[in-house]
Amino acid sequence: MREVDLRSDTVTHPTPEMRQAMADAEVGDDVFSDDPTLNKLEAMAAERLGKEAAVFVASGTMGNLVSVLTHAQRGDEIIVGDKCHIFRNEAGGASALGGVAYNILPNDEHGMLDPDEVAAAIKPPNVHFTRTAMIGIENTHNACGGATLTPEDTKAIADVAHRHEVPLHVDGARIFNASVALETPVAELVKDADSVSFCLSKGLSCPIGSIVVGSSEFIDGARKWRKMVGGGMRQVGIVAAAGIVALETMVERLAEDHSNARKLAQGLSQIPGISIEPDKLYTNLVFFEIKDGDPAVIMQEINRRGIKGGMPTRRWRFVTHYGITSEDVDNTLEVMETVMRDFSKN
Ligand SMILES: Cc1ncc(COP(=O)(O)O)c(C=O)c1O
Repeated sequence: MREVDLRSDTVTHPTPEMRQAMADAEVGDDVFSDDPTLNKLEAMAAERLGKEAAVFVASGTMGNLVSVLTHAQRGDEIIVGDKCHIFRNEAGGASALGGVAYNILPNDEHGMLDPDEVAAAIKPPNVHFTRTAMIGIENTHNACGGATLTPEDTKAIADVAHRHEVPLHVDGARIFNASVALETPVAELVKDADSVSFCLSKGLSCPIGSIVVGSSEFIDGARKWRKMVGGGMRQVGIVAAAGIVALETMVERLAEDHSNARKLAQGLSQIPGISIEPDKLYTNLVFFEIKDGDPAVIMQEINRRGIKGGMPTRRWRFVTHYGITSEDVDNTLEVMETVMRDFSKN
C-alpha cells in the first residue's frame, strides 16, 4: 500500500540530486566561515531575496528566534498577530530566552494585520512602556489557510513600522509558495522588510535548515545570537548543498503542489459531512472541517487505509508537497469518501 503523507510539507525527503550534491559537497568549519558550500548558499539566498547578507540556521523556529533577539533587547516588545507561528508555535522562545514581551494584534482571515491597529499599538517613548522593537508578519500565513500577503500588504505594515523607526520581520517559512502563487519574485515580496526567515526544509524538500536574510549589520548580529543559542555548525556544507539544489530546482515546481491542493479541495468539497471553503485556498495548505461523525475515528480509519493526516478535532489540515502526486490526491479522495460514508454517522 502506498502511503500518502498529508500531515505537513516538512515530511518531504531530499531529491536524488540533493543526495548526490550532499555526498559531493566541499566542506569546511562554518564557525570559522570556512565552508565554501554554505558560503555559496548564503550568498545565493541573500541575492535571491534582495538583501545584503544571509545566515543559515537549523530551523524556522531558530530563524525567527535569532531575528527577534537581534532586533529586540530584554524588556522590549514585539508586535505580532494572534495566529502567527512566532506567538503560537515557538514555545514562547522570544520571552523565555530573550525577555521580550509579545504585543498581540488580531490577524484577519488572510493573516494580515490592520496597519492602523499596528500604528496605535506601537509604544511612544515613555518610562512606563516597553519599547516596540519589531513588528512581525507571516507569509504565507500557516494558521490562516496558507494565505499570501502581496507586496502592497507588506508595504502597508512596513510604512507604519518605519514611520516609527521599528524594523519589520517577515516569517517567510513558505515565502516561495507565496512567490509562486502570486507570480511575483520573492525579492519583490520582501523588499520593504528588514529581515526575513525562510525554510529550506518544507516545500523546498531539504532535510534540514532555514535562512535569515537582512542587512550585513543585522546578519552579523544574528550570527552572534545563532552561536549563543547553540546554532553554530561545523561542516554544514553537507546540508547546504541540498539548499543550493533547492533554490535552483525546487521553487517553480511548487505550482504543482498548489494545483494538487486545488484538486484536493475541490474533491473534498463534494464529500458529504466535510465543509470546506475553496475560495480560502491559496497555496499548499488545505484546511477543512469534519462536520459529521467522530474526527478521531475518521482519522484512525483513513490512517489504516494509508492516508497519514487528520486530527481528533473538527478542523483538519492536509498539506500537498513534493511527495504527493495527482494520483495520491485521487486515492485520498477515494478513501475520504469511503470513510465519511461508512463512519460519519457513527
Ligand atoms: C509559518 C511558520 N514559521 C515557522 C515555522 C517553524 O519552522 P521549523 O519547524 O523549521 O522550526 C513553521 C513550521 O511549520 C511555520 O509554519
